[in-house]
Amino acid sequence: MRNPKDKDEILNSCSFFYDKEVGFENDNPICLEIGMGKGDFLLGMALNNPNINYVGVEKYSSVLSVAIKKIREYDLPNLKVLNMDAALLGDIFKNNIDTIYLNFSDPWPKKRHAKRRLTSDVFLKVYDGLFTGIPHIIMKTDNDNLFAYSLESLKEYGYTLDRVEYDLHKTDISNVETEYEHKFSSKGVNIKFLDAKKYSRDI
Ligand SMILES: C[S@@+](CC[C@H](N)C(=O)[O-])C[C@H]1O[C@@H](n2cnc3c(N)ncnc32)[C@H](O)[C@@H]1O
Repeated sequence: MRNPKDKDEILNSCSFFYDKEVGFENDNPICLEIGMGKGDFLLGMALNNPNINYVGVEKYSSVLSVAIKKIREYDLPNLKVLNMDAALLGDIFKNNIDTIYLNFSDPWPKKRHAKRRLTSDVFLKVYDGLFTGIPHIIMKTDNDNLFAYSLESLKEYGYTLDRVEYDLHKTDISNVETEYEHKFSSKGVNIKFLDAKKYSRDI
């Protein structure tokens, strides 16, 4: 994505970057969306669930600036953002995350790039240190290969797949759409969904 003209102004004036020293100043659960993109999911979730705190993590400031521009129209005490690579999340959170959402993560189709997938063991290891209780990951994707890979990777890493759906929009699962989800489902692509927990911390 090209840098929006007003990117620097938007980032410099953003008042809702997550600060680990300050946190949310309440004891409500904290959920992360990793790779939040332009923020539709995070905004919808924060509006629907005022008693849950949300942090959106996005690697690219150009993309994040588009999300910030949308989010700043609302005054939401339960929504904050971080401009960083998920690989470094252990520097920010320690045993205080309830659920991680992975929405339409980059598929990295080449085998030699598999470790860059957000459900590879490299990232699952990072996530281990973030959770407050039972590790809990919820994922949606349009991509069959990434989905098949993630099911295996999560199982191998000790997660139990509590729910797996191959056509999310035909289920009763309550859902807030993301930008990519809207794009793919309007083209007729089925949205894949999984909800996984690691009940044993041994692995
Ligand atoms: C395909 S987009 C999906 C955006 C949004 N979640 C959606 O569903 O519309 C994937 C996003 O994840 C971000 N991303 C990829 N790898 C990341 C990482 N390691 N850490 C943080 N963000 C990442 C990308 O920059 C991109 O904005």
